Amino acid sequence: MAKVFVSGTLPGDGVAALRASHDVVQAEEGVRSAAFEACRADVEAVVALLTDRIDAAFLEASPRLRIVANVAVGVDNVDLAACRARGVIVTNTPDVLTEATADLAFGLLLAAARRIAEGDRLVRAGGFTGWTPTFMLGTRVHGTTLGVVGMGRIGQAVARRARGFGMNVLYTQRSRLDEAAERSAAATYVTLDELVARADFVSLHCPLTAATTHLFDAERLARMKPGSVLVNTARGPIIDEAALAWALEHGPLAAAGLDVFEREPVVHPSLLTRPNAVLAPHIGSADRPTREAMARRAIDNVLEVLAGRPALSAVAPAPLSPVTA
Ligand code: GLV
Repeated sequence: MAKVFVSGTLPGDGVAALRASHDVVQAEEGVRSAAFEACRADVEAVVALLTDRIDAAFLEASPRLRIVANVAVGVDNVDLAACRARGVIVTNTPDVLTEATADLAFGLLLAAARRIAEGDRLVRAGGFTGWTPTFMLGTRVHGTTLGVVGMGRIGQAVARRARGFGMNVLYTQRSRLDEAAERSAAATYVTLDELVARADFVSLHCPLTAATTHLFDAERLARMKPGSVLVNTARGPIIDEAALAWALEHGPLAAAGLDVFEREPVVHPSLLTRPNAVLAPHIGSADRPTREAMARRAIDNVLEVLAGRPALSAVAPAPLSPVTA
């Protein structure tokens, strides 16, 4: 029976399955809790949330740790090199959240373009005084061009949805898809510069790495197409939030749909006052079956590794390329 720490409350039956064969300690406050400190000398597995920072100092103080099972596809909260150096396995939860995250990305795209959240606020505030031909005009979606940054599983799922809206899809990432994948995605490979210049909608699906931090800074935002819409369901620091707020106020952007922020749960104050920013509280994967499946996948990874078998979804210890989100 190994000591396993579970961060937070997880939906579904995974934790019960873990308790059946292991000694589980669970704490709402995550790995920075007194509960974790009390058991860390013995902990062999941690089921971690994306809000838990797993760095070299953390590993140093957890000498028996064998696996960090992140309940997320992104692993930017984990120092992969430090884990590799100590022989600690890191796993994530790919596949199970692909469609849910793509749904949310498309929801944000629609809400931002067609001013749905703004309209909701207006109706509640008593501002709906009757239909007129010029009231709340937004951005056209169907038949326009979507640019996907990071054509991994989620990017491809967003591209599939875009096809249903008659959109033309451009994509960019570090390495081009093979011909068959490109054909099945019905997407055209372009450089990032070309994508931002041509796309009416840009949706981000790359992992957060040193190379993608502030990939959308003031300069890149300034080169986006006038009247375009930026959607981020990946990680907040890919966009310079202050620069985005400026571009939403002064152009060229018409709107943005954001599910993630630079310093969660804090949101840049100038974004909070922008009516053309649709802000969601990091709920990309938050449909019930998806969250249950994510928890179960993380726990199954722990069960496999503690039983001496290979993990189901181990993350390469090297930094991920923008292809793989
Ligand atoms: C959620 O943000 C994830 O990376 O799974």
